[in-house]
Amino acid sequence: MTRTAKRLRIAVLVSGGGTNLQAMIDKSRGGSIAAEIVAVLSDRPDAYGLERAKKAGIPAFVVDYKSCLEKSGREDLPVDLDELDRRQRILKTPDPVRRRVRLSGLVLAERELVRIIDSYQADYVCLAGFMRLVTPYFINHFNSGDRRRILNIHPALLPGFPGSHGYEDTFGYGCKWGGITVHFVDEGEDTGPIIAQAVYPIWPDDGLDEVRARGLGLEYEVYPQVLEWLARDEVIVKNLPGGGSRVTVTDPDYHDILRRWIKRALE
Ligand code: GRF
Repeated sequence: MTRTAKRLRIAVLVSGGGTNLQAMIDKSRGGSIAAEIVAVLSDRPDAYGLERAKKAGIPAFVVDYKSCLEKSGREDLPVDLDELDRRQRILKTPDPVRRRVRLSGLVLAERELVRIIDSYQADYVCLAGFMRLVTPYFINHFNSGDRRRILNIHPALLPGFPGSHGYEDTFGYGCKWGGITVHFVDEGEDTGPIIAQAVYPIWPDDGLDEVRARGLGLEYEVYPQVLEWLARDEVIVKNLPGGGSRVTVTDPDYHDILRRWIKRALE
């Protein structure tokens, strides 16, 4: 933490190992970012990220997506399902009845996520290996006007290789450089405004394991750095006249930080 920053309250959503979560916890506890992880939530009871939270004394919650998806369609929803279905871009199920049943199940689970996250007064919600699609209900709850409060980390250089296999897709395509992206979440899949990206080389002898390890090493630097920028109000989002938005980071050390990431990736 180098400049004055208010300490952000962060809720982290995980589905798996939670190594990004761990990087955030470590940097937060070490005082190098002005952010505190106030709650960790998962859609899976066996997510190791929940253990990491408990070990760090952070409240951890499981939201039972399976039972919500089974109940769906039979409960009052906090949204108009028809409108949600018109807006949503994530579910591709062609049959409208099945699509709405699925959507309503997701919303039921998200209602629980929202309830818990709000009870911790989180400033931002960080998706960190959260393997569920989020609906416009969840997104609109946290985004109001120009204020965007949901972030995601993606293991590829967006807009290339969206979806859940960023490292595999980057490596499989034969890319000579790979990358990682931290972005705000919008209603598409991995399409929201990009805040930060970092790249790493893929050397001729590398296998997928080397590629993933190099990318993850960068993820652990970049995601916490973005939180620090947000805490210092150094992330400016501008809406473009033709639609879409652009993010600018105003940190005077921005160039040095990017150089550091590149240097590190080349080591
Ligand atoms: C990371 O590669 C992240 O980019 C992607 O999912 C993975 C999560 O890993 N969204 P972990 O759970 O943080 O170890």
